[in-house]
Amino acid sequence: MTKLSKASAPAKIILFGEHFVVYGNPAILASINRRITVIARFINSDKIIIRSDIKAAGEYCDSTFNPLEGNMKAKSTLDPLYNAIKNVLAARNQKVGIETDIFSEVPHGIGLGSSAASCVATIAAVDSLFGKPDIRKICEQAIESERMIHKNSSGADCYISTFGGLVNYNKIGGFHRIKAKNTLPLVIGDTGIKHSTGDLVARVKKFKDRNGTLFEALSRQARDICSQATVAISSNNREIIGRLMNENQEILKKIGVSHEKIDDLIRICTMAGALGVKMTGAGGGGAIIALAGSMKDSSKIASQIKAHGYDSFEARIEYKGLNV
Ligand code: PMV
Repeated sequence: MTKLSKASAPAKIILFGEHFVVYGNPAILASINRRITVIARFINSDKIIIRSDIKAAGEYCDSTFNPLEGNMKAKSTLDPLYNAIKNVLAARNQKVGIETDIFSEVPHGIGLGSSAASCVATIAAVDSLFGKPDIRKICEQAIESERMIHKNSSGADCYISTFGGLVNYNKIGGFHRIKAKNTLPLVIGDTGIKHSTGDLVARVKKFKDRNGTLFEALSRQARDICSQATVAISSNNREIIGRLMNENQEILKKIGVSHEKIDDLIRICTMAGALGVKMTGAGGGGAIIALAGSMKDSSKIASQIKAHGYDSFEARIEYKGLNV
């Protein structure tokens, strides 16, 4: 047993295929070079204390929650992490007090996988207090905890956060690594609007129920984009990747998950020279990703976004997953 342990896990983007992936189609995900770090230690009580620098903190004593920061709102953020810690302790056959501190470089609630990365890093930090962690098991435990937030979660966020890199995923075939060490110059733009993945997934279901034939045709297009994108990413053809991102965005617009602020950011990035721009994740606000032709262009795009009053940062694909 060690007194203190530390783990970190990366955020993610969905490059292609969000929403359609819920219905068995493929998606391409990548982890990015923004991480969430968790420090875990034993405490001399039977409480579980979780503190996050996103202004949420609380202590759990026999499942009773007491907020320390962020009132009862903090509870919904922290509950999945509390459950994750409880499951780790049960699996390790331990009954001890634990305190965790979460430090985030990832804006939350905009589709960048901050909750999955927090979950993966929390489980890894707590588990490694007791011995060498099993990385596959950590991923499985994180997926289980994430399903508390989003019942139909594919688990793809937790997978990419644990293992890093680029993957092609579908519900039937599972995860397939795209073996390309690409340094795609990416820019993330934030609409400033937090979204609820569950609400947007429900909105798409309604659309699908009302427009069955159209949805099937759009799914076919999304599938096709994903398979072309897998080839383009493998051969590092940025022009084609960019064009496919734009095509994917058009489809997402048709199923009603875009937003006027997404359109605004797309316009800004395109004017600044982006090769392709699309929303990433559930949409309805949230984040956009833009692909630049070069590192110099990505810094120009990021500053243009800022000049228009939105937050932005440059990002790269991160090949290091969980670090524990
Ligand atoms: O939670 P987000 O914003 O990363 O989006 C999840 C992606 C969806 O395809 C919309 C849902 C899912 O479970 O795959």
